[in-house]
Formats: sequence, C-alpha cells, structure tokens
Amino acid sequence: MKIVAIETSCDETAISVVECKGDIATPLFQPLSEVVLSQLALHAHWGGVVPTLAKREHEKALVPVLQEALLKAKLLGIQSQNSKGQMTNEIQISNILNREQTLLPEVIKFLETYDTPDIDALAVTQGPGLEPALWVGINFAKALAMAWQKPLIPVNHMEGHLLSPLLSNGEQFSISLPADATHQALQAGNFQFPLIALLVSGGHTELVLVKAWGDYQKIGQTRDDAAGEAFDKVARLLGLGYPGGPAIAAMAAKFQSLNAKFQINTIQLPRPMINSGDYDFSFSGLKTAVLYLVKKLQENDPLVLERDEVKASIAYEFQEAVVDVLISKTTRAVEEYGAKSIIVGGGVSANKRLRESMERSLTSSGRETSLHFPTQFLSTDNATMIAAAGYIRWLEREKYPLPNAASIQAEGNLCIGIQKL
Ligand code: KG4
Ligand code: ZN
Repeated sequence: MKIVAIETSCDETAISVVECKGDIATPLFQPLSEVVLSQLALHAHWGGVVPTLAKREHEKALVPVLQEALLKAKLLGIQSQNSKGQMTNEIQISNILNREQTLLPEVIKFLETYDTPDIDALAVTQGPGLEPALWVGINFAKALAMAWQKPLIPVNHMEGHLLSPLLSNGEQFSISLPADATHQALQAGNFQFPLIALLVSGGHTELVLVKAWGDYQKIGQTRDDAAGEAFDKVARLLGLGYPGGPAIAAMAAKFQSLNAKFQINTIQLPRPMINSGDYDFSFSGLKTAVLYLVKKLQENDPLVLERDEVKASIAYEFQEAVVDVLISKTTRAVEEYGAKSIIVGGGVSANKRLRESMERSLTSSGRETSLHFPTQFLSTDNATMIAAAGYIRWLEREKYPLPNAASIQAEGNLCIGIQKL
C-alpha cells in the first residue's frame, strides 16, 4: 500500500510517500519520495526551536512540500476541466483548519487544482513533540484525509525513529543495509528479536525492549535532559551554535586529529549514572560539569574559549562521556534481556563516534548481536520513518483499532511502550 506520511513534531516539515509491503514479521518499505524542509537556519538565530515560529513555518511549508513529494512520487495529477472547482467539502475543511488561517487558502487551492492521488492511507505524527507544531501537521492530515476519503493513521514519532534502520533510500524493496553503512556488524535484514532499541534524540533518550515490530516496552529513560539536548546546551556553552550535535562532533573530531596518536585529554568529565544499576540516564549534571569547568578555566584566562584546542578537548571529552554512558547501559540491557539485535535511532544516532564506539564495543565483547543504525539522512527527523510506523499500526489495526480521524489529538508527551515498574 502507498502511504503519504506527514511529520511536523519539531523544526522539520517532512512529507514522504512510501510503498509498504509485507507482513508484521517482515515489513518492506520503498520510499517513492522524501522531502524535508528544515527550519534550522531560522531557529539557529534564537539558539533553539521556538514553538510559535515552528508552527508558522510549517503552515507556510506544508503545501509546497506535499506538492513536491507527490510530484517526485509521480502522483501529482492536474484535475480535468470538468471536475475543476467541484470541491464539495470546503466548509468542513475550513472547520478543520480553523486555527491554521495561513494554511487554509493554500490547501483549498491545492485541492481545487490537483486530483486525489493514487494512495491508500495517510500517516501523521501525533506526538511526542511541540504541540503547536504537531497540531499543524495533524490538522493538515485531517483535511487531506477528509478531502481524499482516505484513512488517517496517527503515529508515535519515537516508533518512527525505532523503525528507521529498516528503511533504505535505495531503489529496491529491502529491510536493507543502510546505503552509508561501513560497519562490519551491520547485517542486511538481520533483525532478530528480542532486540534492544536505544532512542537518542533532541527530546528523548530511552531504551526500549522490542519483542516484535509493534511490541515495545520502555525499560529506561532520561530523568532530565535528553542526550541531544545535552549536545545542544554544551555547544551553546562553548559558543558553537545550533544544532549542537554536529558542531560538537566536528570539534571532537578536531581533537582526535590533533591528538591522533595518543588522545590523552587533561580534561575529565563524569559519566552520570553509569553504575546506577538501572536503565535510566541523566545528562543535565554533565552539562553543569562543563559549565563549572569553563568558569574555572576562564578564571585563569578569560579568553580561554577563543582557543580552538580548548574547545576541542572539552567537546571530545563531553562526547566520550555521553557515548560511554549510552554504550554501557545498552550493553547491560542486551545482556539482561538476551537481545539478539541492537537498533540505534534518533538524531544523536548520526554521531560517528557513537557508531564507531558501539561497533567496537560489540566486536570486543564477542557477542553475536547485530547492530543497526539508520542511514545518516534518516537519523534525524523525516517522514519516511513515520510512514513505516504508520504501516505497522495499519497491520495491527485489528488488535489496536485506529481512532476516527476527527478524534486524533496532538499529544506532546506521547510515550512509546509501557514503562517497566
Ligand atoms: O531526532 P531529531 O532530529 O529530533 C528530535 O526528535 O528531537 O534529533 C535532533 C537532535 C539534536 O539535539 C541534535 O543536536 C542531535 O540530534 N544531533 C546530533 C548529531 N546530529 C544531530 N547529536 C550528536 N551528533 C550528531 N552528529
Ligand atoms: Zn525525532
């Protein structure tokens, strides 16, 4: 079936059209088009995502992004003269998009111009995320579902990240080796249950036990800041800009190249909760440790942060601390639950050091656990993963009936699975 998926939970307006096949044991996905419009430059100016700005930008972007996604998927057809202007449900659409006054005329014009595309369902991110941003995507999806008379599947964004390693942006159907995979431990299609998923994004850090696709149990999460959030905050402290993850990673790589041989760092930071015996995380103390360290260094030299080698040392040690904690907890979960595969998803899974260190740690443990990362492009927010999660919901619809489209609400704190008591 063809699913049009819409993602607006944060600062990316993303729409993908994905051909989905297979059963719940072996779902298969082929993206027909993937369009992502990032608001990054706009939010960088404020040092982080501003929810009201995000909502405004999603409103502006959704119709052009949809148009491009359908065009690339060869599903955009101009209406014939006969049917032109025969939109019967304009009043209902106005009601659905009552709070999206910028988007409403664009949607009406779009629906008057183009035919109903040959698709089977729509999927939309319901949460977690920024509620004003989520609502735009949801109301847009409701309007399209109504006008096109297609089912609408609400999706958990984190389930999308969890499924992202199943996707490839290659040409063929496959649960495949990601296109940029260079890791020995990556094995095509070799997902085995139970598996442990480490989800690390800007808003979440959680470990999930997966017994089958669609069957998730959260076993641990961060008690304060998410890993991505810590990257962003520490980058701001070091004056590296937003988003912090790639900026810290680049600085840390500089340290590695400057100290290629020994990598001895005089700076040391804590590994919070590494021996806590549970699967929870805490990253806000690590950020505070960086803050105190910077203040102390500035007492001796107020211009210390002008020096690249100092920033590089701090960035490197911070990244090592985060990576050490993530790997340690994931490894413990793998052992306790006898996991046969590991999935890492979410924006922080783009981190090269995390990828390399995780692979190294797995290889040296001698375990036969397969390791799966999404492609670089699918690590951060995108709608292809939302289509994948939508398809899993669709396959499970008899067990968990889908709600009526009109009743779908944004849920900023939507959880994946059940917290283990
Ligand atoms: O999953 P995502 O795109 O959005 C959310 O759902 O939050 O994740 C964004 C987060 C940001 O905090 C960003 O700094 C982080 O992912 N990130 C990275 C890297 N690329 C993005 N963190 C570490 N290393 C990276 N290369
Ligand atoms: Zn995300």
